[in-house]
Amino acid sequence: MSNVTVIGTQWGDEGKGKIVDWLASRADIVVRFQGGHNAGHTLVVGDQVYKLSLLPSGLVRGKTGVIGNGVVVDPEALLTEIDRVTAQGLTVTPETLWIAENAPLILPIHAATDRAREAARGERKIGTTGRGIGPAYEDKVARRAIRLCDLAEPETLDWKLDELLLHHNTLLAGLGADTFTKQALLDHLNRLAPRVLPFACSVWERLDEARRAGRRILFEGAQAVMLDVDHGTYPFVTSSNTIAAVAASGSGVGPSSIGFVLGIAKAYATRVGEGPFPSELHDETGRTLGQRGHEFGTVTGRPRRCGWFDAMLARRAVKVGGVNGIALTKLDVLDGLDEVKICTSYTLDGKSITSFPASPAAQARVKPVYETMPGWSETTQGARSWADLPAQAIKYVRRIEELIEAPVTLLSTSPERDDTILMRDPFED
Ligand code: IMP
Repeated sequence: MSNVTVIGTQWGDEGKGKIVDWLASRADIVVRFQGGHNAGHTLVVGDQVYKLSLLPSGLVRGKTGVIGNGVVVDPEALLTEIDRVTAQGLTVTPETLWIAENAPLILPIHAATDRAREAARGERKIGTTGRGIGPAYEDKVARRAIRLCDLAEPETLDWKLDELLLHHNTLLAGLGADTFTKQALLDHLNRLAPRVLPFACSVWERLDEARRAGRRILFEGAQAVMLDVDHGTYPFVTSSNTIAAVAASGSGVGPSSIGFVLGIAKAYATRVGEGPFPSELHDETGRTLGQRGHEFGTVTGRPRRCGWFDAMLARRAVKVGGVNGIALTKLDVLDGLDEVKICTSYTLDGKSITSFPASPAAQARVKPVYETMPGWSETTQGARSWADLPAQAIKYVRRIEELIEAPVTLLSTSPERDDTILMRDPFED
């Protein structure tokens, strides 16, 4: 019996929510290990639609949810989300939600710095979610972060706020943005502390106990490998590592505990924010994919850029992410197209290249090389077995497997939880 770690293999928004929800129903504990409330998961359960940014998806299934030390936690966003799902009928208590006491916090000053810097970048902006994720991770590494446990220590909070304000106010003033007072931040934290602190605990210890008791743990990644701060399309990335290895360090378990790594890939590609996207479509087909796939950001509502499946980048995500199997989503969005294309290699300045370059200047000049396959007129929507799929759709999936060097172990054919074809149960691996 294995644990399972789920990561995105493209630029996020691969439809992780549904897969994680499906897996969560078979797990005991669901752990978030990186990112923050920049993530957006939509879960459709019966007639209820849950939009989660920070809370682990398992809570919707009545499982224990864990926010690990690798996550940056905005306490205000957390409480707003808890209130929202509570109004939808869920129960969130310190018994069902554990938050690492050593998790760094996002304060309003982080979002202000994030937005002021983006504005200053002008045309070179990254297209961040503006939620303070980057500045909060920077503060963690710079050793000036306020962590959840600090909310219980007024003296620590006092000197840490001085250090934080010195850094951020200097920057904000330099950028011509409004600065913050210590009292405003202190009031903010003191107001939230009594409701947030009861969730704080020693997550590594509880996970160790759970592991030894044989409980099934699902590690739920946010964003995706192409947004990884090391392995993604830097600098157009998020500020955390998003690969499966981080499930261990971001929650306090050993690397052998992360289990089967399930990579989520959409049957085409999308991206929000700026940055290179070699297989992006600027034509009618791109618009069709966007409309059919309802490609609008869960967090920001921005329309997503759409394009063909990029097997070069997905293969790389499989390798650096340590992916054992793929869950392919939204195949039905391609139904009815005369032909479908897969990006199988690139050219750079007219020369064929076998790997996506690291330099952003070269990345922007990369041109895709496509393999074209006939489309299928039949619907794949709602298919629940391999036999329900048209032959051309099967060929398309098989070709993807071949190119990215990973098996498709799960196929999702609609937003409904049960419209899933399971080739291999990752928990049984
Ligand atoms: P940040 O994470 O807010 O700093 O944004 C950095 C980049 O990551 C931007 O291009 C965002 O659009 C992108 N990003 C962050 N979170 C997500 C996500 O959950 N899905 C897709 N893109 C994301």
